[in-house]
Amino acid sequence: MGASREQFGSRLGFILAAAGSAVGIGNLVGFPVGAAKNGGGAFLFMYAIFVFFICLPVMLAEMSVGRNTQKDPLGAYSMLSQRSSKWSIAGWLSIITPFMIAVFYSVITVWILGYLVGAATGDLEALANPDYFGEFINSSQIFVYMIVVLAIMYLILQGGVKQGIEKAAKLMMPALFFMLIGMVIFVLMQDNAMAGVKFYLIPDFSKIDSGVVNGALSQAFFSLSLGMGIMITYGSYINKKADIPGSAKLVALTDTAVAFTAGLMILPAIYSFNPNIQPDELSESSVGLIFTFLPKIFLALQTSVGFVGASIAASVFFLLVFFAAITSLVSIFEVPVAALMSEKRMSRQRALLLCGLLLIILSLMCAVSFGMIDFLTGFMSYAGAEKSFFDVVIDVFYETILPLNGLLICLFVSYRWKKHNLSQELAAGSEGYSASLFEKYVNVSVGTFIPIILLVIFINTVTTKYFGVALIG
Ligand code: PHE
Repeated sequence: MGASREQFGSRLGFILAAAGSAVGIGNLVGFPVGAAKNGGGAFLFMYAIFVFFICLPVMLAEMSVGRNTQKDPLGAYSMLSQRSSKWSIAGWLSIITPFMIAVFYSVITVWILGYLVGAATGDLEALANPDYFGEFINSSQIFVYMIVVLAIMYLILQGGVKQGIEKAAKLMMPALFFMLIGMVIFVLMQDNAMAGVKFYLIPDFSKIDSGVVNGALSQAFFSLSLGMGIMITYGSYINKKADIPGSAKLVALTDTAVAFTAGLMILPAIYSFNPNIQPDELSESSVGLIFTFLPKIFLALQTSVGFVGASIAASVFFLLVFFAAITSLVSIFEVPVAALMSEKRMSRQRALLLCGLLLIILSLMCAVSFGMIDFLTGFMSYAGAEKSFFDVVIDVFYETILPLNGLLICLFVSYRWKKHNLSQELAAGSEGYSASLFEKYVNVSVGTFIPIILLVIFINTVTTKYFGVALIG
């Protein structure tokens, strides 16, 4: 690279940007529902253990590879493996995976924007109609919202690391925390809210089985933005003085705290709407919950706070989710952009345009695979189910390749780059890391049981998803 590498301007900026990536739709809706259905406090406890004992070491591995090489994932794998072609596959996977996840995540973000505009312009009643979602995602409006989402992403990313990504995170993350706390207070003041809190938090260990364990771990892994090259790329924008272990712990803590707090917003809202609801009646997916279930609940709040009050609550909720989604989308899209910039020596503008163009084509293919275009709607079928293009992208990249990427980075740092290099990198800027118990834990876990666990998840996903044979759960 000609010019010196871009950098975050401050430690806080780096932490907020990484937390901005981590805090996303997964935290705000995926986690609360997962917890409510699967043992409440027991799920939370298990999730926190996974975050700190399994995901944190992987995050450290990713960040240290990035900072050591000062390169994008492709360049980093190539440099540390002395251009081994075997490892370049892992590098490519860490570029293609985030790109493809950006494809489906941007489609969901487009829908969120549509619902935000709907709630803010007084259409809450329409949004709460069960048929609305299906009609909305097949309407031509989504193309307009898609342009807006892409334009916002472009505006942030063309500003570069410090003026774009860091500034956006410094603005959006505090706003997000603020809105979340405000929503929690508002929701807790509603009737029957405490029934939801009880439901959310009372531990029920009998609900925990191998399927739940697997789900909690996958959720934690995705929630911390691992396996997508993001933490490698963001790590490459910090200097040797930065304390990686300290920052990573804060990112993990923030992510978990937001997920936990989101539960205090979602579940009491649901219970105040229907105190007798059973957890099995909660929607299966985050998408179903955001777009069909919650608008209904917000509308029902009008009996206590009036239509305008309910519309404001819904708007704040969708704005909150929108901010969380945008900071995640920015982080994930920066990965291929950074790779093109340093590997193909493109300017930021050109790299953005090229990736943007490809993103538009593929996101459009996803967006029209809900019935608009037959070929993409019934794109493939496996394990006895017909899958749309959107489903296939999620199954292949999010469900399957994500844990594989985690497995590869663990094997890479332990057995190719070697643990003493990992230790040395993590110790730079972090007084007291060397010879600490934490260092020993990171080195042992990354080289042994974490890759084994990720391998088991990967194999189980392949057999379940594509062959219909579940080994676990
Ligand atoms: N961590 C995000 C979440 O919890 C997931 C994500 C990150 C998705 C980055 C895309 C890009 O929703």
